[in-house]
Amino acid sequence: MSGRWRVAFPSFLLGAAAMQWAKVYHSYRIEGKAQTAYERELVGGVDRGTFRRHYDEQVPTIEEEFEWWGRFHQHRHEMRYDLVAATVREHLAPGGVVLDVGAGAGLVADRLADLRATYLGLEFSARNVRAGGAKFAEHTGPLSVSFFQGDAERMPIPDGSVDVVVMSEVIEHLMHPDRAVREVSRVLRPGGVFVMTTNNASEMPCRSPLANPLAWVEKALGATRPELISLRPWAWPGPVAEELLPPGVDRMHLPHTHHIYEETRRLFEAGGLETFEWSTFEFPPHQSRTDQWLEARGERGSELVDVIERICRRIPLIDRLGCHLFMV
Ligand SMILES: C[S@@+](CC[C@H](N)C(=O)[O-])C[C@H]1O[C@@H](n2cnc3c(N)ncnc32)[C@H](O)[C@@H]1O
Repeated sequence: MSGRWRVAFPSFLLGAAAMQWAKVYHSYRIEGKAQTAYERELVGGVDRGTFRRHYDEQVPTIEEEFEWWGRFHQHRHEMRYDLVAATVREHLAPGGVVLDVGAGAGLVADRLADLRATYLGLEFSARNVRAGGAKFAEHTGPLSVSFFQGDAERMPIPDGSVDVVVMSEVIEHLMHPDRAVREVSRVLRPGGVFVMTTNNASEMPCRSPLANPLAWVEKALGATRPELISLRPWAWPGPVAEELLPPGVDRMHLPHTHHIYEETRRLFEAGGLETFEWSTFEFPPHQSRTDQWLEARGERGSELVDVIERICRRIPLIDRLGCHLFMV
């Protein structure tokens, strides 16, 4: 081979590989964007009555969910509750008020029970208000606990009366998250703190990075450049049950959106909130093969998943790939 060929041939191979990758990425982007647009349309027609009935009649409390899904699933949620409760402890002075918006059955309250403070659990679903109320019926301080029905988008709470607002895995379900953020800003006292978790960017890929590398690269880079993300599920996981549909409506999807750090930061900023801490957590994704493998290992799997968590949180760019976004 002549000297010229020795240089030209590898460059040609590299060029062909780059073109092939560009083609693959181009189709991925076109398909992802089309799917994103379709899903956005799906969540457009929700009405509040169906939304309420869905939460009252169809959605189990998180503790019921644990019974179905088992110990490994519970372990992974507990990590989130521990993280949220630890952050509340950092910011809540004695005698303070913490408002848990979309409180579920009060698993954050469980972790604050020893504090001399007031916990308000605001819930849309009557089923969760009953579950939280029943759990704390016998509770006698020092944390004063109450659960009541209300809407995150119109909170029955006076202005500037709360020290810490928690909203854990709730914003993704709201019809108008911007309204809820403005409400958070209204009810917080000046200098109060908002602690939020939600789905990070896209729980797709639920599969391994090898099965879907483009989605993973986009997710890492898209945290601060949201326009890079092609596939954006808005309605995951599924449609409203047929028996709940209003007359004449043949399908309806409730929002279960996925949040991108930079967009969410801007949403908070528009509502008057400054973001001073963010990270992601929960690696690897639910339903991935790794997750299933770990679950099958029982207690050992739970210990291993904690080690994976600690490692992933320390590696730049990988640390953005957790299934959940944490913002303060
Ligand atoms: C995934 S659960 C999370 C519950 C709880 N934060 C936890 O982490 O265990 C979402 C909760 O948001 C509540 N929710 C949905 N829309 C709401 C709204 N507009 N106002 C208040 N709560 C709402 C649901 O009833 C449900 O309990």
